[in-house]
Amino acid sequence: MKIFLDTANVAELRKGMDYGVIDGVTTNPSLIAREKCEFIPLIREITTIIPGPVSVEVTASSVSAMIAQAEEYAAIADNVVIKVPINLEGLQVVKTLSSRSIKTNVTLIFSVSQALLAAKAGATYVSPFVGRIDDISGDGMELVEDIAMVFGNYGLTTEIIVASIRHPLHFVQAAKIGAAVATIPFTTLTQLLHHPLTANGMERFLKDWEKVKS
Ligand code: E4P
Repeated sequence: MKIFLDTANVAELRKGMDYGVIDGVTTNPSLIAREKCEFIPLIREITTIIPGPVSVEVTASSVSAMIAQAEEYAAIADNVVIKVPINLEGLQVVKTLSSRSIKTNVTLIFSVSQALLAAKAGATYVSPFVGRIDDISGDGMELVEDIAMVFGNYGLTTEIIVASIRHPLHFVQAAKIGAAVATIPFTTLTQLLHHPLTANGMERFLKDWEKVKS
């Protein structure tokens, strides 16, 4: 499973790259707003830190305006992926961008039917938001399983990015399902390594090591 960082924070992205486990980035308007800096230069910087796919979301509503934004963002760097919301306009944008070989990540996916239509329109990725479904007492991972089954039924090559991940269990469940990508906040990345037995084990080894005479 590829691991993307779900952040627009440059310091987090640099740290993630140092750990050697990050394959890409997803951003969204809320994550960008948190950084309080100019949008295009920020995206340009992110694309230089992360060699893998960098999702950048369009914010216009009409098809032509979304395509204009997409072209501007795609021109920033070869690894920019255009994030498009799932709706009728979004489908047309995905179709057009796909015919121009611009990669897309269809976002805010909350149903199998949305994912299937996005894939048929030519999406490179679909992003089901598991955490937001769990937040309203649904089962986000069940949606991921269902999308994976339907894509498998028809040999669709659109990849699933499990998004809106809230904790390490989501990450593990995504891997068990065989999702292509999990996009995770930086805090979840650090939580993935925590285990009390590892911490205890290290403490004991170091204590015993102090008794060794050199
Ligand atoms: C994914 O592409 C989104 O940026 C993100 O995962 C949304 O997560 P949230 O529901 O925690 O905002």
